[in-house]
Amino acid sequence: MQSVTIINPGKLVFGENSFEQFIADYTALGLRRLYVVSIPPVAAQIANGLDKLRQQGVSIHIDNSIAGEPSFSDFEKLLAAARDFGADSVAGIGGGSVLDVAKLIAVQIKNTQTTAEVIGIRNLKERATYLACIPTTSGTGSEVSPNALFIDDSGAKVGVISPFLVPDAAYIDPALTLSVPASITASTGIDALTHCLEAYTNNFAHPVTDLIALEGVRLIARYLQRACDNGRDMEARAQVALGSMYGGMCLGPVNTAAVHALSYPLGVTYHVPHGLSIALLLPYVMEFNLPAAPQRHAQIGLAVGAAPGQPDIDTALQGIELIKQLIRSCGLPASLDELNIPFDSIDKMAEDALKIQRLLKNNVRSVTHQDAVNIYRAAFNKVEA
Ligand SMILES: [Fe+2]
Repeated sequence: MQSVTIINPGKLVFGENSFEQFIADYTALGLRRLYVVSIPPVAAQIANGLDKLRQQGVSIHIDNSIAGEPSFSDFEKLLAAARDFGADSVAGIGGGSVLDVAKLIAVQIKNTQTTAEVIGIRNLKERATYLACIPTTSGTGSEVSPNALFIDDSGAKVGVISPFLVPDAAYIDPALTLSVPASITASTGIDALTHCLEAYTNNFAHPVTDLIALEGVRLIARYLQRACDNGRDMEARAQVALGSMYGGMCLGPVNTAAVHALSYPLGVTYHVPHGLSIALLLPYVMEFNLPAAPQRHAQIGLAVGAAPGQPDIDTALQGIELIKQLIRSCGLPASLDELNIPFDSIDKMAEDALKIQRLLKNNVRSVTHQDAVNIYRAAFNKVEA
């Protein structure tokens, strides 16, 4: 059996009202200057808790400026503000982009390395500042992962990947996701499902992550529709949040594969939101990968509700159809056509995707330029009546 390394947050709190637990825990730490990266939609929900900290004498600076995938210049602006503020602690309270920015601020406030030096895998050497991550969407799993992703000056999506980016504490409070609109619930939910799915059907799949990956697929397939149909359905929100956390836990030890690699050009070049680009490609990458791992894809099929007792290929194909149905019934576009992506951009997107070898090496079937072209082609013109 190959080895695996699991690095989780020092403290992981999951459940409704766990934001209150963050306030209590933070108070006990004795820290005094908290830099918060957040988003306006949760401002009212977190206001009381932050007021409690202020009453304890904690100074809080809140930045709400991160919207969409962050660039390094977005990050540098906030880092300078956090240093000016004299932050002794950082909390990210938002979606994946907010958490990624908060994570890198916490490591860079006191780091002697420049940002350019920490880009890449395991180049970052330290983090001296307390970091808490509190997700407000169920999708990226950034609150438990060692990854922070940014757009660089050339427009490429690059990662800082290091165990030091795993926060000291993560608080996953499904109540903070109640106000997320259906379209974002859907796309982030499919992203989370894909983190689990790509961990399970992965060259580096491991029994430790297989357990949570398959369960994450099952939970999201079962509850995402409910969370989209009725955002106030707390049970559905909690189950999807749990699936998302499981997906995040797979990102460190195993990570994603071709769906994510092929999604990057859609995000970087055409600014398609991450989860949406994932949803548009997932079924077609699964169809491509299926011959390389029929048994694993059959298990995915069973987890999403395919009928048992069929040959693996049939179970897997039924599973892919069920995932297509889920994507459609959650209201997401089913084709790159619907987003006005130019068909003649395929060759360039394939070229860009092939550069993401850090993820493609994980894919159960090796992906050539022509394979990537074929997958993008399949993701066009697939609108069904
Ligand atoms: Fe993702």
